[in-house]
Amino acid sequence: MPAPRDIHSYARPHETRVASLHLDLHVEFGARRIRGRASLALERSSGASSVVLDTRDLTIHRITDRDGAPLVFSLGSSHPILGAPLEVTLAPDVVEIHIDYETGPGAAALQWLAPAQTASRRQPFLYSQGQAILTRTWIPTQDSPGIRQTYTARITVPAGLTAVMSAESLTPQGVAVSEGRAFEFRLTRPVPPYLMAIAVGDLVFAPLGPRSGVYAEPATIEAAASEFVDVERMIAAAEQLLGPYQWGRYDVLVLPPSFPFGGMENPLVTFATPTILAGDRSLVSLIAHELAHSWSGNLVTNATWRDFWLNEGMTTYVESRIMEALAGPAHADMLHVLARRELIEEIRRLGGEASPDTVLHVNLEGRDPDDGATRIPYEKGAALMTLLEHTVGRPRFDAYLRGYFERHAFTSIVTDTFVDDLRHHLLAQEPAIEARIRLDEWIHQPGLPDNAVEPQSTQLSAVSAHAKAFAAGSAAAPLPTSAWTTQEWLHFLNELPATLSSAQLVDLDTTFHLSSRGNSEVLFAWLRIAIGHSYRPAMPAVERFLTSQGRRKFLRPLYEDLMATDWGAAEARRIYAIARPTYHAVAVNTLDQIVNAGAKAPAHE
Ligand code: BES
Ligand code: ZN
Repeated sequence: MPAPRDIHSYARPHETRVASLHLDLHVEFGARRIRGRASLALERSSGASSVVLDTRDLTIHRITDRDGAPLVFSLGSSHPILGAPLEVTLAPDVVEIHIDYETGPGAAALQWLAPAQTASRRQPFLYSQGQAILTRTWIPTQDSPGIRQTYTARITVPAGLTAVMSAESLTPQGVAVSEGRAFEFRLTRPVPPYLMAIAVGDLVFAPLGPRSGVYAEPATIEAAASEFVDVERMIAAAEQLLGPYQWGRYDVLVLPPSFPFGGMENPLVTFATPTILAGDRSLVSLIAHELAHSWSGNLVTNATWRDFWLNEGMTTYVESRIMEALAGPAHADMLHVLARRELIEEIRRLGGEASPDTVLHVNLEGRDPDDGATRIPYEKGAALMTLLEHTVGRPRFDAYLRGYFERHAFTSIVTDTFVDDLRHHLLAQEPAIEARIRLDEWIHQPGLPDNAVEPQSTQLSAVSAHAKAFAAGSAAAPLPTSAWTTQEWLHFLNELPATLSSAQLVDLDTTFHLSSRGNSEVLFAWLRIAIGHSYRPAMPAVERFLTSQGRRKFLRPLYEDLMATDWGAAEARRIYAIARPTYHAVAVNTLDQIVNAGAKAPAHE
């Protein structure tokens, strides 16, 4: 199928497209660069006389054909978001090119961590984050989600370190070479380049099940293995719903705390933040989410970043079905209620029901695709799936989903392809059903349509009543919190009014030790309340949280909240100056716009 036009890539795949690549790369911690060779296998249409690749901040040393003869190439001028096109002139018979290159010191996909920034503090660490368009900062290829590629790799790292990639590992222990150790990988299924990923560090492995396990630093491995005991059951639940898992193994890699996302669905190995290691398995829905991407996202992929909601909306829906299978409907209901609040708040943050940024098929013309990564594609997308399920009934919707993944496996599709598929295979016989759903409005209009299914949770309704009573003046101590789950705590905190007294804040904090909570989500919710009420005793906890992890979901609101107060802006700038060098470029890019210290701070490395 021809790749659709992607405004975030320079590639012209209709002329020449990259079908597969082999990477022979050296990871140099001293120089903080990756250096080596990318060998690309090309598919050419007749008449094509060049191939255009995406690059950003790469130094290209030499490009040769299979016989080692140099090829003529030109690097265009560099755009701050898109980078620079690399055009290689091809003689008629050339279908393989070898690019000798190295990454720049500011390669945005890569974060190079000093030993002090890791859990074990003994070895340096490197990881990549490709989504959305950052793979071009470490691999010269056609970096568009509509251009699927297979890859193999040989990665050389210093002795004592282990390399992991989003691919089958062919040499789990590595092979000794003069520079250190070499690791080999192979991914035989074609994937979009944003799913090509690497991590290098002092990593150990613990099995979870026959086809699953966890990688982490030695200091974290035990906590990680215990937190994720249910992974094998999650895979079984997902297979039950969507059909066979197609990638062989499913492993989770726990990264150092600066990882800017909660999780990233790199094939065969989900990258995850250590902030979900709550100790009580209460935040593992994030793993269900990343696992769900093995179908929605990795098997069937958004062809352009406008179609991102296809990846995330479907995945958020499947995540909740997996959680329902594992933890029961009452738990899933709580997650729904919490998620709906996030959606409503996000719509407000983006400018309200009429904001164009609340459209599922969002317009990203002239923008960084990262701008589209709001809660909208996730929660509005999932709400559409839930509406479809409720309208046609679960058995029919489940049968449709399975068929959808079979029909489109290993392809990248645009929104219209999904809509056509839906009309053809689910809604065709009943135009009245489509009218009830208002499909076009859901996909192309802003806001949340009023036929969205309202989530309900009896468990959380009880908590709402307690929050009301506390707000009205009753004390914290008698609240029946001893059996509260993380989700009940979150709901309680969400339901508190914006007008608590200092005495009430002190009462909450001293009774429940909220400022010293180890659960990242509960701590985050509490710290937002503390900042909003200028409750200064929590400020050391705010600083600790902002300087001990780099997850953008937590950083952005906290810095925004601080900047919105008269006393907090200076605090935000002071803390940011300390923490900025420890954050990943993806987080820095967002935070520089919020904490206006960005201009004064040194360039991110
Ligand atoms: N694929 C996303 C992460 C992502 C999105 C990276 C856009 C870069 C650009 C991943 O699956 C995700 O959604 N992660 C969430 C967690 C999830 C449970 C909502 C996150 O990191 O917060
Ligand atoms: Zn996701």
